[in-house]
Amino acid sequence: MDEAVLDVDGLSVVHGGDTRIVQDVSFRLGRGEILGLVGESGSGKSLTALSLMGLLPPGLSRTGTVRLRGEDLTGHSEKQMERVRGAQIGMVFQDPMTGLNPVRRIGSVLVETVRRHQDVSRAAAREKAVEALAAVGVPSPGDRVRAYPHQLSGGLRQRVMIALALINEPSVILADEPTTALDTTIQAQITQLMRDQIQARGASMVLITHDLGVAAELCDRVAVMYSGGVVEEGPTRELLRNPRHPYTAALLAAAPNFDRSRTLAAIPGAPPSPFARPDGCPFHPRCDRAQDACSTKEPVLTVSGSARLACWNPHD
Ligand SMILES: Nc1ncnc2c1ncn2[C@@H]1O[C@H](COP(=O)(O)OP(=O)(O)OP(=O)(O)O)[C@@H](O)[C@H]1O
Ligand SMILES: [Mg+2]
Repeated sequence: MDEAVLDVDGLSVVHGGDTRIVQDVSFRLGRGEILGLVGESGSGKSLTALSLMGLLPPGLSRTGTVRLRGEDLTGHSEKQMERVRGAQIGMVFQDPMTGLNPVRRIGSVLVETVRRHQDVSRAAAREKAVEALAAVGVPSPGDRVRAYPHQLSGGLRQRVMIALALINEPSVILADEPTTALDTTIQAQITQLMRDQIQARGASMVLITHDLGVAAELCDRVAVMYSGGVVEEGPTRELLRNPRHPYTAALLAAAPNFDRSRTLAAIPGAPPSPFARPDGCPFHPRCDRAQDACSTKEPVLTVSGSARLACWNPHD
């Protein structure tokens, strides 16, 4: 296999010394690849992303290794991580208002982001800012650089966030629910924009979404998270056409805009709290295929062909 752009091995997020909120997450992201991380609210998607960037909230710590183009980020200081963030890994979040300072013009934020990582003049950085806005489809970018975030629509603000994430040409984009806060039509435009930009730049992306429709459209591979761990991973089409983990199958059956021919079937019960995880497979109390072993022994994520699966009684 080619060297992975991002190689995550045994990543856990630990609370209070012993509770693992994210458990032993491993994945490899190839060049130009888009990997989806999907799962219900609370499954640990955002903490996985934040821990990759060294941005965990206080009280939480990380174990495991993260390699970016072969470079081990594990022992990096905050100062070293600042160089990685924004230059080698770009980030896009759900709510562009949290990523944009309301009292600063968007041009000045873009210029500062360029100059933090590249040794260029203010005028050259300003030119890059206008180019970056044009590339993400912001109309009249030469004027818009003077706008404040609140003067833009939600869709335009998200385009600005994408411009910010891309402006230093990072090899990896980390996007956490980038279209969730947007109207459906705008969602489709932003989804397409992200795909086009990633492809044009030969960049890779980890896309966090609870929307299987978005994952189906954008991702080459999908990893399904449940209760802090990956329970199934595979090429998107195979995984969505033939889900093997009962949780993946249940997520699909519950997806409102994925397959309209199906009747919606909400998954009964709720995911466990990381502080009260059941023995065995964490999904077994909600699983319609659970057997005796499922409540006593936790299944290990095992490679089968191009996919990985952690289940004692999967679908064929
Ligand atoms: N600072 C924290 N301290 C303790 N627990 C936390 C903290 N932040 C999040 N959690 C818990 O960790 C779990 C995973 O949270 P996370 O935000 O990663 O989920 P998520 O998959 O991104 O969910 P969503 O789809 O709602 O964004 C949840 O049970 C959450 O309550
Ligand atoms: Mg989240």
